[in-house]
Amino acid sequence: MGKVNKKLNVKVKGLEGVIAGQTNISYIDGIKGKLFYRGYSIEDIAQNCSFEETSYLLIYGKLPNKTELKNFAEKLKRKRSLPQHTIKMLHTFTKNMNSMEALRTVVSSLSSNDKDPRVSSYNEKLDIGLSIIAKMPTIVAYHYRIKNSLDPIPPNSKLSHAENFLYMLTGKIPESEGAEVLDKDFVLHAEHGFNASSFSVRVTVSTLSDVHSAYTTGIGTLKGPLHGGAATEVLLMLKSIKKPENVTSYVDKILLSHGRVMGYGHRIYKTYDPRAKILKKMAEKLSIKNNNTTFFEIGQKLEVIMSDKKKIYPNVDFYSAIVYHNLNLTHELYSPIFAIARSSGWLAHILEQYTNNRLIRPLEEYTGSMNLKFIPISKRK
Ligand code: SDX
Repeated sequence: MGKVNKKLNVKVKGLEGVIAGQTNISYIDGIKGKLFYRGYSIEDIAQNCSFEETSYLLIYGKLPNKTELKNFAEKLKRKRSLPQHTIKMLHTFTKNMNSMEALRTVVSSLSSNDKDPRVSSYNEKLDIGLSIIAKMPTIVAYHYRIKNSLDPIPPNSKLSHAENFLYMLTGKIPESEGAEVLDKDFVLHAEHGFNASSFSVRVTVSTLSDVHSAYTTGIGTLKGPLHGGAATEVLLMLKSIKKPENVTSYVDKILLSHGRVMGYGHRIYKTYDPRAKILKKMAEKLSIKNNNTTFFEIGQKLEVIMSDKKKIYPNVDFYSAIVYHNLNLTHELYSPIFAIARSSGWLAHILEQYTNNRLIRPLEEYTGSMNLKFIPISKRK
């Protein structure tokens, strides 16, 4: 057995505070509440870049010029459609299959033409990733339409990534404000260091498994309510709280049972999540415009109480839920929207891990029984 690196024997539940590798993709300052994509502040990126431009930055490591951006956006558009066998497969799914299960299953099924990653080139892996990024909104929208007994609406190559997703859900060209809001939401959800799903993607790639398997791992990991599934839980929580007057009793009940207020808290941010600050402004503007401010008011009350009682602040998922609700998106779509956005960050991590790979395999501390006397089955009670 290889020499055990005794001096590095760090035993921390959930790897909290453990640096598990290096990355050039994003930097998070959890104390100051700062986030940088490839060295650019999230505020500058969210203010100035589309999802396509942000994806280019994350994947290629630099901001694109006009031609590079145009070619990148066109490349994604060309890859949006689904093969016939995939559309047929979507029609076989049962009505109770939820959107993330459908997305995970279909992405996994698209791997039939993958070359062995040990022989495929960097660009071939990149191309597979871009194809998955392009197809994820189509998969989610098709599944949503079929599940609701509606005909799927093929992608519209005249529309941007965000516009086209909304179009495929409704069949209507979205009004510009809604599309811009969703585009900015995609930008804010695109990347976030070694979060659970991105780290799981890296673990998969570290065994030299393939790109589709990495995305399948990422989607499956993001699905959990402690991670990308939180926004759905936030909306259900807001619906159960109903009005601002109920917030105090709701929080007291949760804290008493050592539960979690969804959309709050973060493993890294010990202050306000910088993305939540931007999403809060978006949620407020939409709530006022739609004359539907109850959820936002509940959010304001929650902020005061959670900060007073636990010094815990909203994360990216809290105000996202209010934004999606104001875009009339059903809560089952919230996690898939997160996955659609994070698909760019995942590709950046996939490529970075392949480029400078070492199998990711931590130690474990064994706490079970030892040296037990073996009893043959004939003698067991
Ligand atoms: C995302 O990692 C990333 O970067 C993720 C993400 C990304 O972009 O990829 O930012 C996206 O996943 C955001 C998080 C979405 N999840 C939720 O909103 C679910 C609710 N949040 C919590 O479950 C929790 O805050 C986590 C999971 C996000 C972080 O949890 P930790 O670091 O494991 O902290 P913990 O659960 O051990 O809690 C530490 C203390 C506890 O106090 P004690 O009981 O020990 O006294 O903080 C309290 C907790 O009770 N606490 C909360 C709380 N979060 C932490 N108490 C109430 N409500 C909460 N939400």
